[in-house]
Amino acid sequence: MKSIALSLCALGASAKVITDDSIFYGQSPPVYPSPNITGTGDWAESYTKAQALVAQLTLEEKSNLTFGASTTDNGCAGWIQAIPRLGFPGLCLVDAGNGVRTTDLVNGYAAGLSVGASWNRELTTQRGHYMAGEFRAKGANVALGPGEYPQSDTRLYIYLHFTIVVGPLGRIARGGRNWEGFSHDPYLSGLLAADTIKGHHQRGIITSLKHFILNEQETNRNPFANTTPQVEAVSSNVDDKTMHELYLWPFQDALKAGSANIMCSYQRINNSYGCANSKTLNGLLKTELGFQGFVVTDWRAQHSGVASALAGLDMTMPDSGYWGKNLTTAIQNGTIPESRLDDMATRILAAWYLLGQDEGFPKPGVGMPYAITEPHTRVDARDPAARPILFQGAVEGHVLVKNNRALPLRDPQVISVFGYSAPGYKQSVVGDGTYSAWKLGAQSTNPEQQVASKVYNSTVFIETIAINGTIIMGGGSGATTPGYVSSPFDALNQRAMKDNTDLFWDFVDPAPQVPASDACLVFINAWSSEGYDRPAVYDDYSDNLVLSVAEQCNNTIVVIHNPGVRLVDNFSDHPNITAIVYAHTPGQDSGAATVALLYGDENFSGKLPYTVPKNVSDYGPLLGPDLPEGDYLNYPQSDFSEGIFIDYRGFEARNITPRYEFGYGLSYTTFEYDSLSVGKTKKAEDADIYPSGPIEQGGQIDLWDVLANVEFTIKNTGKITGKEAAQLYIDTPSGARQLRGFEKLSLKPDETDSVKLPLTRRDLSEWDVAAQRWKLVKGSIGVYVGASFKDVRLQGTLDI
Ligand code: BGC
Repeated sequence: MKSIALSLCALGASAKVITDDSIFYGQSPPVYPSPNITGTGDWAESYTKAQALVAQLTLEEKSNLTFGASTTDNGCAGWIQAIPRLGFPGLCLVDAGNGVRTTDLVNGYAAGLSVGASWNRELTTQRGHYMAGEFRAKGANVALGPGEYPQSDTRLYIYLHFTIVVGPLGRIARGGRNWEGFSHDPYLSGLLAADTIKGHHQRGIITSLKHFILNEQETNRNPFANTTPQVEAVSSNVDDKTMHELYLWPFQDALKAGSANIMCSYQRINNSYGCANSKTLNGLLKTELGFQGFVVTDWRAQHSGVASALAGLDMTMPDSGYWGKNLTTAIQNGTIPESRLDDMATRILAAWYLLGQDEGFPKPGVGMPYAITEPHTRVDARDPAARPILFQGAVEGHVLVKNNRALPLRDPQVISVFGYSAPGYKQSVVGDGTYSAWKLGAQSTNPEQQVASKVYNSTVFIETIAINGTIIMGGGSGATTPGYVSSPFDALNQRAMKDNTDLFWDFVDPAPQVPASDACLVFINAWSSEGYDRPAVYDDYSDNLVLSVAEQCNNTIVVIHNPGVRLVDNFSDHPNITAIVYAHTPGQDSGAATVALLYGDENFSGKLPYTVPKNVSDYGPLLGPDLPEGDYLNYPQSDFSEGIFIDYRGFEARNITPRYEFGYGLSYTTFEYDSLSVGKTKKAEDADIYPSGPIEQGGQIDLWDVLANVEFTIKNTGKITGKEAAQLYIDTPSGARQLRGFEKLSLKPDETDSVKLPLTRRDLSEWDVAAQRWKLVKGSIGVYVGASFKDVRLQGTLDI
């Protein structure tokens, strides 16, 4: 363990003599003062409007914009009170990443990991568009005149959606929130985040980008006060190069796409809390990436008043007690300059103006009931036009990884169905009577599996499976409560009714008796939730169930609902296991989508957004969370010393052959790649090695200059229509082959289409630590186009 002797000394713990440069590892340099919003790029008009409004506010009104009011009487995760005299209606901040959380009459979309598995940018934008439409529908008309905004009416306004999870990035395989993010790859995550934001902006909804940054484990995510001294939250320790080339990358894309809010994370970053870290907030975010919007805390992630204000925090949620009167006192006595509060208020109001929310929401609504039993006027937010998007999202998140001609099913007469993840959940409501993600398989508890033990501040569940019924997503604040859940067994029954199939089923016996069948389907899952990391990446109970069926049935098809990586080597080579499907986290249309795929009404087109290794040991130290240990029991440390070498980069560097590589997935048809051409653009001709453009939100604007294009053709050489997610990898100057382009195409049999993928200056650069800039590395670069990380079909070079 390198790192934090200095902080330990400061806190009175045993001193250590540091003799080398490692003194700087795990330390967060100070960056002050906090940069003001400047109104660059698209923000000019909203900045001017916000400034004008802030000029009319009293000190107290400005301060009231920066901290959350109580959430107990409405469905908002947090809300900012109105300023009636000036027509500002307040803000309602609502989860979740896959739809509107904590309310009724909404949809449950495919969750992040399924979106990643789809590799479908257009579908992702549409998903964002319709999700945002639901937030809007639950919102209300703000075209009332000033003075007509009673404060209690804040429940009527839903302006901010906690949508975009690009952190965690899946550094550790057992990460409890990996299912909320899109992928373990920053390039794929970044573009899908940008597409989701685009969809939200079409409907005037502010997106929240989270959790900034290095929020890679749930264990010790928060401080734990029941000891003396208290156990601080884990510190994610990272070097500057890894920060830029891996973890900051997807945030940068999402900021470039215009996200007007970002949420700082619970844990510490280089030993300084995420919501009081001047390097990440003032430095990376507001200086280097020119962020114009506002920074909100994760819930109760504020641990200091003055320090967090000066470090660049703009809003605390809910009400921590650190701000409010304390903030105004600190301003009055000169500890914090009033300009800092002006900047907080301007950033918050500029975000509101940027999305046109001052112009009013078209349709009055009644917002969000809090308790399930609360009488309320119903607002059905579900647009019928979203139905195909929900279904397609569920379909394209499925990844077929093994198929020995078992699928699609061909007129089976007798099917037997096994596994606890096939039927619907036993109760629709299993929670505390609130609309808090407790409904219909989106539950975050699973009564029969709660074998819990306390490890510091987090509850660790011994078992990882949700044995009470199918799951459509993980649990916690990222889960929604859709109107219905299509379970695999429901959908199979419907299909059987149509086809007159004879179904047998047993969802209880761990070693069931198997009738003579044309196909045996086994549905298993892995459970994952915010608040703790998964204890394992496979479980014996499910694997033994699968093997028991396979011993008796020579056409055993396994479907896994997996909110994260799930290893399958205990059964994947069994000769009777003829097909394996990762169904991921499909949302409410889960069963309908699976059955459409199994019967070939839909074609598989998903590809893995992460790598599946053969052995647990292949992960080395990146399997599970870092725990408090040794000298650091009260100051847990997590050194990201592997650098950018997580997931496929790491396995490749360590020469480990995976079971299923990143980007892998089968289809019912086949594709041929041809005619590769790699060409430089005019901009590349005399490109300087460093960018020189001005900074707008997202960073220096010429980082997005296209310096080369990679073109090729794809032909559908099979007999049915299918979609192919074509991938472009390059040997990056950082020493790893990395994803730098992808596109999903739909092709009919014999149809050929061409693909053109741009390579930007940033794609071809490495982070120069000394220059503190992206540096274009000139030379010959390997270019690889194919169907997955390993399945390279075309190869070329780019001379830059
Ligand atoms: C989660 C956030 C969420 C917030 C509000 C926190 O516990 O980490 O992702 O947005 O709660 O519900």
